[in-house]
Amino acid sequence: MSFAVAAERAGLALLRSLEPEEAHRRAIQALNLRHAMGLSPGGPVTSPRLARRVWNLDFPNPVGVAAGFDKNAEAVAATLASGPGFLEIGGVAPRPQPGNPRPRLFRLTEDRGVINRFGFNTEGMEVVAARLEATRAAAPLPAPLGLNLGANKDSEDKVADYVAVLGRFAGLVDFFVVNVSSPNTERLRDLQGREALAAALARSLEAREAKAPGAPLLVKIAPDLDAGELSDVAEVCLAQGIDGIVATNTTLSREGLRSAHAHEAGGLSGQPLFARSTEVLGELSRLTQGALPLVGVGGVASVEQAQAKLAAGASLVQLYSGLVYGGLALAGEIARGLDRG
Ligand SMILES: Cc1cc2nc3c(=O)[nH]c(=O)nc-3n(C[C@H](O)[C@H](O)[C@H](O)COP(=O)(O)O)c2cc1C
Repeated sequence: MSFAVAAERAGLALLRSLEPEEAHRRAIQALNLRHAMGLSPGGPVTSPRLARRVWNLDFPNPVGVAAGFDKNAEAVAATLASGPGFLEIGGVAPRPQPGNPRPRLFRLTEDRGVINRFGFNTEGMEVVAARLEATRAAAPLPAPLGLNLGANKDSEDKVADYVAVLGRFAGLVDFFVVNVSSPNTERLRDLQGREALAAALARSLEAREAKAPGAPLLVKIAPDLDAGELSDVAEVCLAQGIDGIVATNTTLSREGLRSAHAHEAGGLSGQPLFARSTEVLGELSRLTQGALPLVGVGGVASVEQAQAKLAAGASLVQLYSGLVYGGLALAGEIARGLDRG
């Protein structure tokens, strides 16, 4: 085992002994420190076999880091330097808000899962955009960067919030994701209903045309939609001309869990989500007949699981909870595994 691998494993064991939110904060700090010292692994893993063009963007590899990992764009360059083929920052809402009281992040170690009820803690779009401007001014980014569009808890018109954030980040990110599926913001998931979704996407697409023409606009959906609701989502997305679908966000289901924290409120992610999120992805692929690029997310922690998402119809894959158990190197390791076939 190399020194770097041994150090990474020791660091991971240390992080897992900390309270989960504190562990995440320290992981971001460590990532940035390593990057500042010039010790990052050296950029996104890539090869002719791994590289792909989706929309108008070039991805060094198809394995990205999902929304929620770097909500406030604190470690964009350092994260991309550690191997993934893209990163989705956010969710970001217009105004700063603290989110729910702690504790609000739980490891379900026996189940290899995570429950979170952050409730959209965000530094707000001005602070995050200024940070990203500084990152971009320092050096070009080596892979596409997406932004998860969020809404303030107390805002009556959630779509107006998406539009405001999209406008502020125009030119700063490569693609946008409308998040209508977080279970931790009251009434947000109501936007997944047929009429509400059509209206939300129409307004978001109009804003994209006006403020960030050419930037792909995706929608991220919940795994808890039934067959009829999924079919409505697919139809609305195709009719509105949305550029892609991210499937899926966290689940409210608690089926088959063994861990002590299984009954905490919030969204469940990680291994317990893999089967359902892959099923939803496959169903969307069938419904959209390859007309829309799909991003497969939910429970990916191995090369085989990434392959299963691609086989179910994903053009790109994302992960977050897998990093909690496998370390940030996991995204690059999975990409290397895909390259080997
Ligand atoms: C702590 C945490 C925070 C998250 N925050 C967001 C968010 O702000 N916006 C969003 O769309 N998804 C968010 N997610 C969902 C992830 O992006 C992803 O869809 C979900 O966790 C399933 O993937 P995984 O099993 O690989 O974690 C969050 C997930 C976790 C665990």
